[in-house]
Formats: sequence, C-alpha cells, structure tokens
Amino acid sequence: MTPQQIALVQTSFAKVVPIAGTAADLFSDVRRMFPQDLAEQKKKLMAMLGTVVAGLARLDTLLPAICALGERHAGYGVKVEQFTPVGAALLWALEQGLGNEFTPDVEDAWATAYGMLSQAMIDAMMRKVSKAA
Ligand code: HEM
Repeated sequence: MTPQQIALVQTSFAKVVPIAGTAADLFSDVRRMFPQDLAEQKKKLMAMLGTVVAGLARLDTLLPAICALGERHAGYGVKVEQFTPVGAALLWALEQGLGNEFTPDVEDAWATAYGMLSQAMIDAMMRKVSKAA
C-alpha cells in the first residue's frame, strides 16, 4: 500500500467509527454463524480493525496477531470463500457511512487493506487446517 492509501484508510475509518454499530449490523449474511448477542462481537471486530488500521504502515509487527486471528477463524468453521462476501459487505458499509467521501481512491485503499489482511488470515487458516489433517 502507498503512504497515501494508508492515510485514506486511516482518515475514513476515523469517520465511520461513530456509526460502527450500524456498520457492523450490516454483516447480516453471516449473522447465523454468530452468537445471539452481537454487541460484544461488534466491539471486537471494530477493535481489531482499529488496531490493523492504526498499524497499516508497519503491518509486519501485527502479523503474529493477524495469524493468530486467522487460526481462531479456522476453529470457528470459517471458509476461505467467505472472505469475499465479508469484504464486499465491509466496503458497502463504508460506502453507506461515508457517502460522498467514499471516493474511488478510498475504495481502492480499503480493498487493498482488506485484501492484505484477509490473505494473511487465510494463509494462517490453511496452515492450521493442513496441520490438523
Ligand atoms: C479481515 C477479516 C476479519 C476480521 C478482521 C475478523 C475479526 C474477528 C474478531 C476480532 C473476532 C472476535 C474473536 C477473536 O478475536 O477470535 C471474530 C470472530 C468471528 N468471526 Fe471474524 N473476522 C474477519 C473475517 C471473518 C469472516 C470472513 C468470517 C466468515 C463468516 C468471520 C466469522 C467469524 C466468526 C464465526 C467469529 C466467532 C463468533 C463467536 O462465536 O464468538 N470472520 N472475527
């Protein structure tokens, strides 16, 4: 990611944090995988996204935490192909939250960030699954 893309992700994330409850509600496709009370889940998701967004410029330092998150997702029964619809839902939620400020550059920057994050999680999930087999 370019420094400019990192800045775009960070400033746009700061704008959606106040409406995060609504944004996280939009992940309804995958709702049935989650416990009834989603409040705690939303907090965890936003906290994790916050950590990643803040650390984009030095993602290598976050890799251990991201890999551990990926391994836990293998345990939750998450499938690799579910990362695509979840990524689309995230971009859609950002578009709703940011309105006009969701420019093509902001979209590209987020798609790149989500792509990197999910690839690292998926790699860790696959390693865990192949180890277990
Ligand atoms: C970059 C993408 C993602 C991020 C940052 C993320 C983040 C998180 C976080 C922080 C948790 C809290 C529990 C923990 O820390 O282990 C969690 C739990 C969970 N996530 Fe994700 N997640 C992502 C993608 C996905 C995808 C694609 C699915 C597929 C539907 C998914 C399904 C779940 C499930 C089922 C749980 C556990 C719910 C429970 O039983 O408590 N996540 N996720």
